Amino acid sequence: MKILLFGKNGQVGWELQRSLAPLGELVALERGSRELCGDLTDLDGLARTIRAVSPDVIVNAAAHTAVDKAESEAELARAINALAPGVLAREAKRSNAWLIHYSTDYVFDGSGDQPWRETDATAPLNVYGSTKLEGEQLIRQAGCRHLIFRTSWVYGTRGGNFAKTMLRLVQERDSLSVVDDQIGAPTGADLLADVTAHAIRAARPELSGLYHLAAAGETSWHGYASFVIDFARRTSMPLKVAPDAIQPVPTSAFPTVAKRPLNSRLDTAKLQSTFGLTLPVWQNGVTRMLSEILDKQL
Ligand SMILES: NC(=O)c1ccc[n+]([C@@H]2O[C@H](COP(=O)([O-])OP(=O)(O)OC[C@H]3O[C@@H](n4cnc5c(N)ncnc54)[C@H](OP(=O)(O)O)[C@@H]3O)[C@@H](O)[C@H]2O)c1
Repeated sequence: MKILLFGKNGQVGWELQRSLAPLGELVALERGSRELCGDLTDLDGLARTIRAVSPDVIVNAAAHTAVDKAESEAELARAINALAPGVLAREAKRSNAWLIHYSTDYVFDGSGDQPWRETDATAPLNVYGSTKLEGEQLIRQAGCRHLIFRTSWVYGTRGGNFAKTMLRLVQERDSLSVVDDQIGAPTGADLLADVTAHAIRAARPELSGLYHLAAAGETSWHGYASFVIDFARRTSMPLKVAPDAIQPVPTSAFPTVAKRPLNSRLDTAKLQSTFGLTLPVWQNGVTRMLSEILDKQL
């Protein structure tokens, strides 16, 4: 099997380089790749790359993920999140390849308190969400065999992440305010990459479609922060912040350029039953990530 990966150095792309390697020949590209074009703003270049590599599977982990910046870079966000996946899908259709793509719970308006299902109506609140939704639609319209995984609250061990920010802040400050009215499930890039590899192995034409994919369980950003800080405290890491000084605050306490959905819960029943997988609770992955970054086990 020949796999062509775009966005190899993002959180998910990095983990995909690991999880896809045993499946066959992997050609992994980034925006600045030299011989083959890996830049999602170069639509002709993308088509040329796919024709030159002739992959069985195209995996797109590249995206314009800067949610606030996207509000003022709508055209660029649309090119990367919508038009480029559309080209990948047309080329996949042309060459009978699979396209694996990632989308987001930001396609929903965040209302209610129930996990979103694949069949629920979409209504994005911001440019990032609208462009990701258009990307999904263009892939479906192209008619290629595809797996679109909508996920949420992604973290990777490499580079910056929410947990690392919290660990830094609790060493610098006496108190901390964290949003407690946005609910979701922190989902490891490693879990996404592993599930992707399993799904590629199991893929049959009739399984082509849209799947929600996130760790099991739910929490708020405040709950997530508290979990991280509690882990750090139990490793005897010196913390300035007192245990009761992590304040829950509403989203309105931290105004952002782009509006965020409050309800980021995703119902993953379709993915789990279709592919025979069990998604672990979010605490498993976060504990593992914390053990790695702090080099401590509990
Ligand atoms: N992060 C989340 O919380 C989250 C939540 C839901 C869904 N998702 C989706 O999950 C997927 C993976 O996200 P992630 O968290 O791994 O994102 P990420 O860490 O921000 O990585 C995105 C990658 O896309 C690359 N990229 C940006 N513009 C590009 C261009 N013009 N050409 C080629 N590559 C380009 C970036 O490269 P540079 O470093 O060169 O910019 C980066 O490597 C995306 O589809 C995203 O929409 C993410």
